[in-house]
Amino acid sequence: MRQRLESLAMSGVTELPRMHSDRRSSNTVSPVVQEVKESHAVVKKSSLQKTETNTATTSSCELKRSQLEVLDQQVRECRTCSELASARTNTVFGSGNPAARICFFGEAPGAEEDATGQPFVGRAGQLLTKIIESCTLSREDIYILNVLKCRPPGNRPPDSKEIGNCRSYFLKQLEIISPEFICCLGTTAAQSLLETQETIGKLRGRWFTHGTAHVICTYHPSYLLRNPSAKRHVWDDMKLLMQRLGVEL
Ligand code: URA
Repeated sequence: MRQRLESLAMSGVTELPRMHSDRRSSNTVSPVVQEVKESHAVVKKSSLQKTETNTATTSSCELKRSQLEVLDQQVRECRTCSELASARTNTVFGSGNPAARICFFGEAPGAEEDATGQPFVGRAGQLLTKIIESCTLSREDIYILNVLKCRPPGNRPPDSKEIGNCRSYFLKQLEIISPEFICCLGTTAAQSLLETQETIGKLRGRWFTHGTAHVICTYHPSYLLRNPSAKRHVWDDMKLLMQRLGVEL
């Protein structure tokens, strides 16, 4: 039953039809799913929502937010990769909670991200949102950033020069947020952060460190769109991550 619910959750199912008649309306979430959601919500509130509980935490969040705004402005003005700078509509800096305990680290903006200036809003982004929600989190609980802040034309993979040019931006961004956990999505993110040439297949499902952050790597959502059978590996990786975070799945 648990495995079935997990796999339904990964494919975006949040409600199940009733099997037996009871006092609830037919639109009500199934009792099993509701129970799972409620128990997660309790853990989530205590372990993830560290904002607004005291003024020190709130002001640290505001400080991070304003430091990120300064860095975002520098990124907007950056023209170091002239090909990317002249082709872009927007730079895509990052989004989410500056005081998040987890950062999800992707590769580079695609067409929708370039058009909107927001990370992970296209098809891969919708799948990432489902993965995050399957972990009983929301995009407001976490922070999302990419290695590159500009879209490589035609969605080609970033080259090593471009990754090197953006390196100081993503490192500074991570330093400001100072997350406890970083989840690298795909080869480019994993190899860039960990400074390795190891394949994602070898890197996933294992723990690494970056400064004081615990790092886990998994497949990129775009890869999952092409290879849905790899979703079970991503779910295994998410379970490892949530276990260390103290979120019960
Ligand atoms: N893929 C990424 O790696 N990042 C995005 O923002 C969108 C798609």
